[in-house]
Amino acid sequence: MKRVCLVCLGNICRSPMAEVVLRRTLAERGLDVEVDSAGTGGWHAGEPMDERALAILADYGYDGSSHRARRFDSAWFAERDLVLAMDRDNLRALRAIAPPGADVRLFRSFDPAAPEDAEVPDPYYGGRQGFLDVLRMVEAASDGVAKYLEDH
Ligand code: 4NP
Repeated sequence: MKRVCLVCLGNICRSPMAEVVLRRTLAERGLDVEVDSAGTGGWHAGEPMDERALAILADYGYDGSSHRARRFDSAWFAERDLVLAMDRDNLRALRAIAPPGADVRLFRSFDPAAPEDAEVPDPYYGGRQGFLDVLRMVEAASDGVAKYLEDH
């Protein structure tokens, strides 16, 4: 079985939203892939998703209530086929600790409509619209990840 880990900074907004959306997208396509998420920072470890992220997910029919934040552990590279960063800072942080051969990319690089090096911007200090933008971005990228995993 393939395994994909989605990574942002705090693991309370972007990557757990992406985890919930990608898991459903893959299940709808009948793809047997394990999806999880983590943050490169550990400040929020053990906490549930940000309530604004939970609210947007709920408004669009997703349930993020079981999520608890975790910090990414470099040992996980060996147990994941793809590690996907939400932004370039987190991509850099991951590549700095990745073993040779680890497949670490930007999540939105799987969205054919996104510009090169496109990020999922941090919505933490903004309002509801930022979280809605994140949801739209992760839905589009999840579709691309699903297509990729169907072919690879
Ligand atoms: P995330 O958002 O990386 O999408 O989970 C953030 C959550 C918390 C912080 C930054 C970003 N923080 O600095 O506490």
